[in-house]
Amino acid sequence: MRYISYLAVLLVLSLHGSGQKKTIAQKVDSVLRLMTLEEKVGQMNQYNGDWEATGPITKDGDKQNQIRRGMLGSMLNVTGVEHTRELQQMAMQSRLKIPLLFGQDIIHGYRTTFPIPLAEAASWDLAAIGQSARVAAKECAAAGVHWTFAPMVDIARDPRWGRVMEGAGEDPYLGSLIAAARVKGFQGGHLGDTDAVMACAKHFAAYGAAIGGRDYNSVDMSLRSLWEYYLPPFKAALDAGAATFMNSFNDLNGIPATANGYLLRDILKGKWKFQGFVVSDWGSVGEMINHGYVNDNYGAAKAASIAGCDMDMESRSYIKNLATLVKEGKVPLAVVDEAVRRILTKKFEMGLFDDPFRFCNDARAAKEWNNAENLAKARTMAEKSIVLLKNERNVLPISKTTKTIALIGPFIKGIRDNLGFWSYEWPDDSGRIVSAWAGVQKKLGSGTQLLYAQGCGVTDSSRAGFDEAVAAAKNADVVVMQVGEARDMSGEAKSRSSIRLPGVQEDLIKAIQATGKPLVVMINAGRPLIFNWTADNVPAILYTWWLGTTAGDAIADVLFGDYNPSAHLPMSFPRSEGQIPVYYNHFSTGRPAKNDHDLYYVSAYTDLPNDPKFPFGFGLSYASFTYGDIKMSSAVLKPGQSVTATITITNSGRVDGEETVQLYIRDMVGSVVRPVKELKGFKKVSLKAGESREVSFTIAPNDLRFYNDKLEYVFEPGDFKLFIGGNSRDVKEAAFILKAD
Ligand code: NOJ
Repeated sequence: MRYISYLAVLLVLSLHGSGQKKTIAQKVDSVLRLMTLEEKVGQMNQYNGDWEATGPITKDGDKQNQIRRGMLGSMLNVTGVEHTRELQQMAMQSRLKIPLLFGQDIIHGYRTTFPIPLAEAASWDLAAIGQSARVAAKECAAAGVHWTFAPMVDIARDPRWGRVMEGAGEDPYLGSLIAAARVKGFQGGHLGDTDAVMACAKHFAAYGAAIGGRDYNSVDMSLRSLWEYYLPPFKAALDAGAATFMNSFNDLNGIPATANGYLLRDILKGKWKFQGFVVSDWGSVGEMINHGYVNDNYGAAKAASIAGCDMDMESRSYIKNLATLVKEGKVPLAVVDEAVRRILTKKFEMGLFDDPFRFCNDARAAKEWNNAENLAKARTMAEKSIVLLKNERNVLPISKTTKTIALIGPFIKGIRDNLGFWSYEWPDDSGRIVSAWAGVQKKLGSGTQLLYAQGCGVTDSSRAGFDEAVAAAKNADVVVMQVGEARDMSGEAKSRSSIRLPGVQEDLIKAIQATGKPLVVMINAGRPLIFNWTADNVPAILYTWWLGTTAGDAIADVLFGDYNPSAHLPMSFPRSEGQIPVYYNHFSTGRPAKNDHDLYYVSAYTDLPNDPKFPFGFGLSYASFTYGDIKMSSAVLKPGQSVTATITITNSGRVDGEETVQLYIRDMVGSVVRPVKELKGFKKVSLKAGESREVSFTIAPNDLRFYNDKLEYVFEPGDFKLFIGGNSRDVKEAAFILKAD
C-alpha cells in the first residue's frame, strides 16, 4: 500500500494555496516550521541497530520509544526489508512522521561481494569500479538501505594501517578518479531512484595519515600536504555529487576532525559549498572527551555542532545536550536549523516523504541478490584486480592439460576469507563463495589430477603439515600455493606492526620451493605485505588480495590464461617496516642518493635501498610491452595552450594483453619543492600480440598546478620533466618548458 504521510498531506494542501509546485527547499522550510527544538535535535541523532558493529553500543534509553517520539533521524546497521519496514512504521507513529534514514557500511558489495576496494583500485578501471558500486547499490537499496558509508577516500601511505584495504591507495590523482567513480556508482543516475543509495565520502579528513599506521591515532601534517595529497579525493567525491561526508576519528594538528571548524565550516561547507550533511564517525563526538578536547558530552555536543557536524552517530551527545545548549544560548538555533535542513533535504531528495517504504521491496531484492549478472560482474572485477608481480620462465599461465597440480596453503580451500573485511555473513550465500580449489576444479577436466595439502595454519607456528605438503608438491608437475592474511587481519582496528606473511607461511613456501617444482605463489591480503624471500626466489607471484564471492573463478581464469592479468599496484610495497612510509611521490631532499649503494652523507638507509620492493603502478602481464621514445608536439608550453606527448607501445609478447600506460611529471624548480614524480594521467590499452600503437597524453598548464606556500593553487613557469611507463619506476623521459606567456 502506498503510504502518504501526514506531512505529505500538509505539504500538498499548502501547494494548493500557492498554486505552484514547491521546491525541496520550500518543503524543508515548511517541515522545519512545524518542528519543536527537541524534534529538530532528534533528526541529528543516529543509533545503531540491534547488534554490535564497530564500537560499544550505548544501551541506555528506549530506542523504539524515541523513534515514536520523533527523537531519531537515522539508524545504521539495520538491514533487510522486514526490519527496516518495522522501524519505519514506528517512525510513522511519531507526531510529524518524518521518515528514518537507514545507513550501512556497504563497502564492496552487499550480497554479491566484490574485491576489497584496494584490490579494485589495482584495476585502474574506472568503469568497472563504478559498476561494482552500482551492483552494491542495487542489492542494498532493495533491502531498505538508503545510504552507504562509502567510499572511503583516505589517501594511505602506511600499509600497517588496516584500513588501507578500504581505500584506493597512495595517489591523489588515481584516488580522486576512483572516488568519483564510486560515488557515481552508488548514487546512480539520480538520487531518489530506488536503485540509488546516498554515498558518504569518508573520513574527513586525513585519517589515512594516522601516526605509526595505528588506527584512530593522531594526525599531524602541514596544510600543504593536506591540500595537495589528502583533500583532493574528497573534493572529487563532492564534485561527483556525494550526498554526505563522514568525520574522521583523528585529531588533525590538535583539533579533533569531528569539531574541526577549519575542515567542516571553512573548507567543506564554505569554500567547497557542500550542500549535503556531515555525520560523525561512530561515537566520535563523545570521544572528544578522551582526546582531551572537551570535558563531557555537553561540551562535545557544543563543539561538534558549532563546527558543522550535522549528525551524531551513536554517542548520544546531541540528543542529551543540544536542546539545552540552544536554550542556554550556547549553540545558536541557526546551527541546529541548518543541520536539520541539510538532513531533511536528503530525505526529500530520496523520495522518503512521498513513500517512506519505497526502498523496502522483497520482489526487487529477490531479483537483485546474487543474480547471474551481478556474479559475472564480480568475477570480471576480480580478474581485473589480480596483480601479476613476477613470472619467470613463463611458469604462468599453467597449461590446462597439466597432468598433476598440487594446491597447497591455508587459503586454498578457504571460503569466507575470500570475502575480506567489511563483508556480510549471509548463511544462505556461503555455498556461492568460490574457493581457489573449487575454481580450479571447475576449470579443469578429468585429465588433470589435483592434490591438496594445507601445509600450515595462517598464524600458528606448527610445521606438522609441511611433510605432507612437500610430498604433494613432489608428486605434482606444477604447484600453486595460496598464502596470506585471514579476513580479520586487515580492516578497521586491524593495524599490524609487522606486515610479513604471518606464522610459518613463508617457511612453507621455502620448503615447497626446495622441491624444484614450478611454483606459483598467490598472496591473499588486505594490504601490501612484505615477502622478500618469496619475491626473490619464487618464479611466479600473483597478488590476489581478497577477491570476494567469485574469487576462485577469477583465480582459475588467471592461472590458466583465460584472463591475462592487467592490474597495477595502487600502493608501493615496502621492503621492510622500517621503510614505511614509502611512496613514489616524495620530495628529492637536498642530498638525494644517486643509487642504491650511494651512502656518502646522502638521504638513505645504510641497511636498505630507498626504493620499495614493488613500485607504485607496477604490474605484469602474460604479454610484454615495450615502450618507444617520447615525442613531444612542442618543447614549449604557454598559458592557454597544451602540449602532447606521444609514445609507441608494442606488445612484443605472444599473447594479447592490456597495458596501463602511465604519465608522470616533475616540476623541476618550484617556489615550494615538488615531488620527484606525480601521476597526471593513464590510459588502458589493449594490444594484440605483435601489435604497436601510439598513445598520446595532452598536458595543459592547469595540469601543472600545485599549492604554493600561501595555499594558492598555481602553476609556475619553468622546466618540467615528463615520464611515461608501465609503472612509476620504469619510465621513458622527455622535457618541456612552461613559459609565463
Ligand atoms: C566506524 C568506521 O570508522 C566508519 O568508517 C564506519 O562507517 C562506522 N564505524 C559505522 O560502521
